[in-house]
Amino acid sequence: NKAKMIVDKDFIVGEVDKRIYGSFIEHLGRAVYGGIYEPEHPSADEQGFRSDVLELVKGLNVPIVRYPGGNFVSGYNWEDGVGPVADRPRRLELAWRTIEPNLVGFNEFVDWCKKANTDAMMAVNLGTRGPEEARNLIEYSNHAAGSYWSDLRIKHGYKDPHNIKTWCLGNEMDGPWQIGAKTAVEYGRVANETAKVMRWVDPTIELVACGSSALGMPTFPDWEATVLDLTYDNVDYLSLHQYYGNRDKDTANFLAQSMGMDSFIQTVISTADYVKAKKRSKKNINLSFDEWNVWFHSNDSDRKIEPWSIAPPQLEDVYTHEDALVVGCMLISLLKRADRVKMACLAQLVNVIAPIMTENGGAAWKQSIYYPYMHASLFGRGTVLVPLLKSDKYDSKDYTDVPYVEAVAVHNEELGEVTVFAVNRDLDQARPFEVDLRSFGSFRVIEHIVLENDDLQAVNTAANPDRVKPHANGNAKLEQSGTIETHLAKASWNVIRIK
Ligand code: AHR
Repeated sequence: NKAKMIVDKDFIVGEVDKRIYGSFIEHLGRAVYGGIYEPEHPSADEQGFRSDVLELVKGLNVPIVRYPGGNFVSGYNWEDGVGPVADRPRRLELAWRTIEPNLVGFNEFVDWCKKANTDAMMAVNLGTRGPEEARNLIEYSNHAAGSYWSDLRIKHGYKDPHNIKTWCLGNEMDGPWQIGAKTAVEYGRVANETAKVMRWVDPTIELVACGSSALGMPTFPDWEATVLDLTYDNVDYLSLHQYYGNRDKDTANFLAQSMGMDSFIQTVISTADYVKAKKRSKKNINLSFDEWNVWFHSNDSDRKIEPWSIAPPQLEDVYTHEDALVVGCMLISLLKRADRVKMACLAQLVNVIAPIMTENGGAAWKQSIYYPYMHASLFGRGTVLVPLLKSDKYDSKDYTDVPYVEAVAVHNEELGEVTVFAVNRDLDQARPFEVDLRSFGSFRVIEHIVLENDDLQAVNTAANPDRVKPHANGNAKLEQSGTIETHLAKASWNVIRIK
């Protein structure tokens, strides 16, 4: 049967906060060294940043990039990464068992963000450290001048404050793998005290408290309730992290996993609102889905890496066509809750589970997942419309009633455009799809972009960087009745732009 979506410009989910198209650079593997920074590379600029990578990052129009971790941040001394490079220590980095040379640190990252037209989202270390170091870092970063840490920044060559607005209070503090992991009460207390002093230094900042590090954590969602109980008045967002994989080679089930993301988001909203009710508060805690992606391809090879080298190739997932479809479904999940998900970071940006890959000294190219992420970031700005969607459904190993067609529409009033994002999860056949745009009057289809491939396992490589690549020959067309009709190719990601 035909799948059908009805949207109306007056029925809205919420405004898209552009920060849902954020990403993440961690001091991990070749994300920094060999990724964004490689002074010996032919394309390196005067600071050692790869301009070929910068161009690919700019193509994504990434609004915010989380830094410096991740698990890395829980053992990091931010002071190691500022001041003269020759004086910076080399450290044993315990999260990923490498040597951290500290050639790139906070100030260089802020410089890189400017070059990439993006903002930094900074994380503070609440694993081995606490309020004291976080307070010092925000003074170093955001205080104009006339105090020890702000004057040190000026001495390091940065006269103007960085004015970074978004700060994460630690990372995945519930995970036993985390340096300095904590119980919910231990974390909630230290996060609250850290939030207080950070705000006393700069009251304009926004703060993200750590939620559970995945939907499957045994303490979920008690962790969320306890942490918010202890931090409610001093934080603005709660984080969610989730990765998916197709270890069992069960693609129908793999493509259904964004349904888990939908229920994860819903449960965190419910838990936040439960604490709101308990506290008789008027304030909403919104969600920062600050790590999400497909991650499983590199798990086996990562286990074989010898410890204590600099920038080994860690977490280098080579993404397939089917991975791009899952990323597309996850983007739709984020958009469907644009009312409460205000930030999200595709983890990560370069080389490490990333849309952009590089060779040391060589090429930089787009992985399959680059495309849905780019399309959503470029065209998914505006207001999300309530997606009244009917589609045939299937059951998979872990999910029941999985719609074959997943879709959402975003109305950009400023440009007078509507963009429909749709995934056809059907692996065997194209599916007819109708979008009823009854309230939009007359319009035309600007383009119908399709990412499809005969081989679900097709990947892009340095030698063949365009094996998975979208085309703009989709068949969406306008019908007299104010509807769009199309056939969504089997296993495809679709972007239908209407004006
Ligand atoms: O993104 C890779 C890692 O995944 C991050 O360091 C950590 O926060 C998560 O477990």
